[in-house]
Amino acid sequence: MNGIELKTFNTFGIPAKAKELHFIKDEGELKDFYGLEANQYYILGSGSNILIVSDINAIILKNEIKGKEIIHEDDNHVIVRIGGGEVWHEFVLWTIEKGFSGIENLSLIPGTVGAAPVQNIGAYGVEMDELFVRCEGIHLQFGKAISMNKEACEFKYRDSIFKNSLKGKIFITRVHFKLNKKCVPRLDYGDIRKVLMTKNIVEPTASDISNAIIQIRKSKLPDPIVLGNAGSFFKNPIISKELFVQLNDRFPDIPHYEVNELKVKLPAGWLIEKCGWKGKREGDAGCHDKQALVLVNYNSASGDQILRFAHSIIDSVLLHFGICLEMEVNIWK
Ligand code: EPU
Repeated sequence: MNGIELKTFNTFGIPAKAKELHFIKDEGELKDFYGLEANQYYILGSGSNILIVSDINAIILKNEIKGKEIIHEDDNHVIVRIGGGEVWHEFVLWTIEKGFSGIENLSLIPGTVGAAPVQNIGAYGVEMDELFVRCEGIHLQFGKAISMNKEACEFKYRDSIFKNSLKGKIFITRVHFKLNKKCVPRLDYGDIRKVLMTKNIVEPTASDISNAIIQIRKSKLPDPIVLGNAGSFFKNPIISKELFVQLNDRFPDIPHYEVNELKVKLPAGWLIEKCGWKGKREGDAGCHDKQALVLVNYNSASGDQILRFAHSIIDSVLLHFGICLEMEVNIWK
C-alpha cells in the first residue's frame, strides 16, 4: 500500500500518511523486510501508545500474529504462548475463561500482546513483568530469530530494553506468560476492594476482579472510540527521597508510593492537576477532566498541537515542582 492514511490506526485519531503499511500475519512474512535499518520502519500494534506528529516516510509493519496456546502445565501453573498481534484485553478474557489468574488486574488496557513488554504495561497493582517468562522475536536488521528471558528484557517501571538499546529493532512475535491455576487476588490498589464490597463479593474470582477493574477504568479513562487518547501520556516520576521530603513539607497531602529506601514515585496526574491543567483545553488538544495524566484529541487536533500542549504541561510542572515529566507515549515522526 502506498500513501496510506493512519487516522484509524492510532487511538489519538491523528491523520497522517505513511509510505507503506504491511500486515504481518506470521514470522515468515517478515523475511521481505530483513536488512532494514531501524529508521526505515515502524512496528505498529494497535496504535494505542503513539502520537504521530508528521507524515511517516517509512514502512509500517503492523503486528497481526495471532495464536493462544498452553505450552506447559503443572499442578499450580500454566505457561501460555500468545501471538504478538493478539489484542491484550481479549487475551485477558481468554485466561479468565480458562480459569487462570494473574493478569485480571490488567483488564481493558488497550494495545496488543506484542506491545506489552515494550513498555512493561501495568495497572492496579500488577506489572506485566511479574507474569512474563520470555518473548520470541525477529531482529529485523540482522534477520535473526531471538528468544529473550525476563532478565534480558531489562524491565523497569514502564520501561524495557525495547525502549532503549533495542528500540525499534525487535519485532516481537510471541510472548510467554506464567499464570496461576487458582485465583490469587491482588486487591490492594485504589478502589478495587470498595467496588467488590458494593457488589457484596468477599471471595472474588478472577472474573469478579476483572469486572471491578473494567468498572473503575471506565469511570476514569476515556474510551478512544469516543475521545481520541493514548492512555497515560506521561510516566509517574520517580524522585529522590530528599526532594520528596521538601515537597511533602509544602504539600502534606501529596500521594506517593515508596519505590525503595532512596526513591519515591509520585502520580503525575496529581502534579498536573495541581498546576491547573485538569480539564483544560487549547483548541482540540486537552487534558482529560477525570484523569489529568491522559491527554485527549477532542476532534481535529494535530499531533503537533497535542505535543505542544504536552510541552506546556511539562514546563509548568517543572516550574511548580522542579520535576521533569517524561512522556510514556512514543512520538512518531
Ligand atoms: N490523581 C490526581 N489527579 C488526577 C489523576 C490522579 O490527583 O487527575 C491522583 C489520584 O487521586 C491517586 C493518584 O493520583 O491518588 C493515582 O491515580 P490513579 O490510581 O488513577 O493512577 P495513576 O498513577 O494516575 C497509573 C497508570 C495507569 C493505570 C493506573 C491504575 C502510569 C503512567 N499510569 O495511573 O495506566 O491505569 O495507574 O493502576 O503508571 C496507562 O498506562 O495508559 C494507564 C492508564
